[in-house]
Amino acid sequence: MKIGINKISFYAPKYYLDLKTLAYARNVEPEKYTKGLLTNKMSVVPMNQDIVSMAANATLNYLTKEDIKDIDLILFTTETGQDYSKSAATHLISILGLRNDVRAVELKQACYATTAALYFAKGHILQNPNSKVLVLASDIARYGLESPGEPTQGAGAVSILVSKDPNIMVLENEYGIYSEDIYDFWRPDGSDYAMVDGQYSNEQYKKFFLKTYNDYLTKTQSSISDFSALTFHIPYSKIGLRSLELVAEKSTYPQLFNNFDKAIIYNKEIGNIYTGSLFLSLIALFEFGNLKASDKVGMFGYGSGAVAEFFVGTMVSDYKAHLLPMLHKKILDSRTELKINEYEYLITNKTPKEVILDKDTHGRVQLESILNFQRKYKINI
Ligand code: HMG
Repeated sequence: MKIGINKISFYAPKYYLDLKTLAYARNVEPEKYTKGLLTNKMSVVPMNQDIVSMAANATLNYLTKEDIKDIDLILFTTETGQDYSKSAATHLISILGLRNDVRAVELKQACYATTAALYFAKGHILQNPNSKVLVLASDIARYGLESPGEPTQGAGAVSILVSKDPNIMVLENEYGIYSEDIYDFWRPDGSDYAMVDGQYSNEQYKKFFLKTYNDYLTKTQSSISDFSALTFHIPYSKIGLRSLELVAEKSTYPQLFNNFDKAIIYNKEIGNIYTGSLFLSLIALFEFGNLKASDKVGMFGYGSGAVAEFFVGTMVSDYKAHLLPMLHKKILDSRTELKINEYEYLITNKTPKEVILDKDTHGRVQLESILNFQRKYKINI
């Protein structure tokens, strides 16, 4: 049975900070961010968006009545969860009007969790061929003001509908995997901001990439020439480029580098969305890249702590007809640029524990209130 990505979309919240503005404020050369990290902007969440509303907005971009009927598993991946007990996935049942005979679960292993969710989704569909699985990746990445990680923040969500006979990409069964107990990036209980050993995390990321990539090549007896594109988990795009350079030379494999440039178009505009980063890159590759039916795309999923996987998808004929580039352009074009003091206010002032929020026009789903520690969402039809 062929199982894979049937539909895919993203949502980015209405505010962004231009990284040149951040660079001037922090007395850093703007090129360090735009060329050194390959990031131009980072999304900033308003108080009326959270991981649930962003995931719902990404899903509403494509959801049909037939999908609602067929979805019987929701896998919500995040590392910025809102509740230690109730999964973010359960909110989606009421917001999207899904069936009640659905499994709804939140998964965590830093940014790797979405790659794991795709693996679990495939297993579920093998046993239930007519089901569709909603895989959601939604995060608000925060390192704090004036920290080295500050230019690698962001916020956003990716929504993936997994099914048999997919319209966009078949997920192949083979994979390379590597896990090790390390502290490269972590966020202990009670800490609002991630802690990170920046240069060590970069080294580990590249080590894990080589281990999983080589594991995959050995298991499948394949080589770099079998791929039309390699995509990466990219908290900032430069780390993907540096990893690609470890296994391919630009002069020998120009197509891999051309497709990589296309695959970072959205990440450069939105910044780090943790669990969704690899899949945001995949959306850009599908929409702007040069891929034809049967082309193979390598994907590197990485989550600090750390677990990594290299896995592969095969493009389906006519996949372009199932993408949403105009809608994605509209989402990005409708954003508002923040001044540095506005950004600093939003980063340091969390949504209050009890609050009723104003309605606005960005995103069909918004957080309406938090009362008695319960979140309520409103949907603008
Ligand atoms: P830093 O020390 O401020 O920057 O931290 P740097 O000195 O390493 O410079 C960065 C790049 O800018 C370098 O490029 C410089 O040469 C260049 P490279 O040599 O690497 O290609 N540069 C310039 N380029 C042009 N003009 C200039 C200029 N100046 C310098 N004037 C760091 C950078 C990424 C470490 C920091 O921002 C950080 O700690 N970020 C968070 C950690 C992170 O994202 N790590 C990635 C691997 S871990 C991971 O992916 C997991 C994660 O997603 C979490 C999860 O799994 O949940 C984070």
